[in-house]
Amino acid sequence: MTVESGRLPADGVRRMFDRIAPVYDAMNRVMTAGLDQRWRRATVRAAVRPGDRVLDACCGTGDLAVAARRSGAGNVVGVDFSERMLERARRKAPEVEWMQADVLALPFGDASFDSAVVGFGVRNVEDLEAGIRELRRVLRQGGRLGILEITTPRGFLAPFYRLWFDRIVPLLGRVLPGGAAYTYLPASVRRFPGPEELAELLATCGFGDVEFRLFGGGIVALHVGEAK
Ligand SMILES: C[S@@+](CC[C@H](N)C(=O)[O-])C[C@H]1O[C@@H](n2cnc3c(N)ncnc32)[C@H](O)[C@@H]1O
Repeated sequence: MTVESGRLPADGVRRMFDRIAPVYDAMNRVMTAGLDQRWRRATVRAAVRPGDRVLDACCGTGDLAVAARRSGAGNVVGVDFSERMLERARRKAPEVEWMQADVLALPFGDASFDSAVVGFGVRNVEDLEAGIRELRRVLRQGGRLGILEITTPRGFLAPFYRLWFDRIVPLLGRVLPGGAAYTYLPASVRRFPGPEELAELLATCGFGDVEFRLFGGGIVALHVGEAK
């Protein structure tokens, strides 16, 4: 498991996010030209209903949990295993419950949530299928899961995307803290399942009515499914 292969053991992922926590939000805004927050709001609109008990899994610095809270959700819990990322989340929104935990072993009983969202997180989970099954376990039947994740675009944007992601993003990494993260990022996207494959995996893991839509010319996919 190496940065170049886009696969890291859980401890390596956690340490990597601890290192990039100070620049994480700024890098998101720069790399997406500020669109990332719009995509997070779309994720919340698709998966979260007013009053829902919401889990933001792999919450990082907490932007998705904050968007859920603003949308009128009830109790919102953000879970991440990187303490440095959580520190920033805590500062942003004290009204959200932030917890340090691994998504592969969530400290909640079955059916504890009405909805769950994951923003740019599942790609980093060591065992993707086990992670999705764990999310299904903590959702009530009929609860919704929204997964926002980077994907590899097809069509006319593909060459620009490769230039940006495979060349420029790793260069940025040379001057920013936690530089290896920006080599890992494009590599981890390349090895991640495409949108159709991820939709199938969600169906295999107990989600029905699975749909996905693409944003940003196909560089980001939002999958939504209902727990069966
Ligand atoms: C790219 S960040 C995404 C943060 C945030 N969700 C967002 O929308 O920007 C990925 C986060 O997933 C967390 N993460 C990765 N694998 C995890 C796991 N198994 N359990 C808990 N957190 C995990 C990392 O610590 C990191 O904060």
